[in-house]
Amino acid sequence: MGKKCLIIYASLTGNTEKVAFRFKSTFERNGWECDSFKIRKKAEDILNPPFKLNDYDFLCVGSGIRVHLPYNEILNVLRRFRLGIDPRIALRNRDETIPYIKGPLPERPPPWEDPSIINHHRKIVLGPDSKKAVVFTTYSGYEFGPKEAEPSMQLLALEIEHLSFKCIGQFCCPGRFLHHPTPRTYHGDIQDRPNERDLLKAEMFIEEKLEEITDRISR
Ligand SMILES: Cc1cc2nc3c(=O)[nH]c(=O)nc-3n(C[C@H](O)[C@H](O)[C@H](O)COP(=O)(O)O)c2cc1C
Repeated sequence: MGKKCLIIYASLTGNTEKVAFRFKSTFERNGWECDSFKIRKKAEDILNPPFKLNDYDFLCVGSGIRVHLPYNEILNVLRRFRLGIDPRIALRNRDETIPYIKGPLPERPPPWEDPSIINHHRKIVLGPDSKKAVVFTTYSGYEFGPKEAEPSMQLLALEIEHLSFKCIGQFCCPGRFLHHPTPRTYHGDIQDRPNERDLLKAEMFIEEKLEEITDRISR
């Protein structure tokens, strides 16, 4: 197995980026080559991202959370790879669009009549030789704690498994939201999160995943 890792993430206030950077330095310390890209709310990032997934052996995908879900820009770049087309085509079926992508949409028949969509669907079976991936989020979890990060991590995991990367782990930690102590919330004061302890946990998480995949290869 090669040792080339790609980290892609969306981060609006810098919390998830701190985790992404710690992941990157952990991969590099373990002898991996590691590229990281922040996906911005820009047409070029969604439609022409400057990387090819096939170039990588391991993928990390991360995002902050808003309204219980990962940021649209990370979902949309993953959809772009999955569909191979402008993701607005698929979002139309949810009455959604991407406001900062301005170009006209190509004319397409409805999905049940579109041969490219019909042919695109197939059963995916991920096995021991599939490439591996992890997902990560930072969140505030004011009401329910880590449970509030789960839907986002599951959604990211589902998207990357559609890209044939097997998701072997999910990492989350609190990330500052309000600039107040919020003592009545699940985690209490998270104004300094992710803190060094969170980032050490992020580091351990990656170390453990690398041990797991190396053990499997050497057995
Ligand atoms: C407008 C807004 C909505 C948010 N909604 C949620 C939410 O639904 N659930 C949650 O756990 N955290 C929520 N958060 C907290 C962010 O997910 C958290 O601060 C995260 O660390 C931000 O990541 P980033 O700095 O990488 O953008 C929200 C934050 C903002 C600013």
